Amino acid sequence: MNPKVECVCIIIFFAVACSAAQNEPSSGEVEVDTKDFACRRQLNYTIRNNLQEPTFEYSIAIRFCRQPFIRIMETAVNKNRNFMFSATYFPKLGYFIDAINGVRGFYNVNKTWWAFLKAPDTMLPVGVSSYYPANRDHIIFNFTQEDYS
Ligand SMILES: *[C@@H]1O[C@H](CO)[C@@H](O)[C@H](O)[C@H]1NC(C)=O
Ligand SMILES: *[C@@H]1O[C@H](CO)[C@@H](O)[C@H](O)[C@H]1NC(C)=O
Ligand SMILES: *[C@@H]1O[C@H](CO)[C@@H](O)[C@H](O)[C@H]1NC(C)=O
Repeated sequence: MNPKVECVCIIIFFAVACSAAQNEPSSGEVEVDTKDFACRRQLNYTIRNNLQEPTFEYSIAIRFCRQPFIRIMETAVNKNRNFMFSATYFPKLGYFIDAINGVRGFYNVNKTWWAFLKAPDTMLPVGVSSYYPANRDHIIFNFTQEDYS
């Protein structure tokens, strides 16, 4: 490389590096941007009871940040009382959902319980305290009567 070309290359390098540095926000701004993006995630949450009267199905679209599904269930209740639920906290495992919209599972009596699914029919392998939903998830609680599997 002749000295003139080398010089131009160095100038171009610095010019590019400098403009990149100017465009780079401070670390504080990066944090805010990341958070805002995370909170623009959206999911569809459905509760469905076809098993016993009165049957119902409700869906709600919820915007959320990265958080376990139990927090989104709380948000749903704040928006719509049909999504009210009750739960029992088990050590380490987190919350087990006992009842939704007044319908309670009696697994010991007749094997009824609220199955936690990803649409259309995938059983989630973890509970509401451990599942961190992804953007555009469709989560369903389906009142069902069968063995856990
Ligand atoms: C949510 O799911 C329900 C049930 O499948 C569907 O009827 C509804 O259109 C969906 N809503 C959104 C916002 O995707
Ligand atoms: C299950 O048992 C509970 C408690 O006895 C009862 O209220 C409910 O109707 C039963 N549900 C079904 C589907 O058998
Ligand atoms: C929902 O529960 C009903 C009643 O037990 C059952 O017939 C149906 O197959 C379940 N749907 C899914 C997607 O698991």
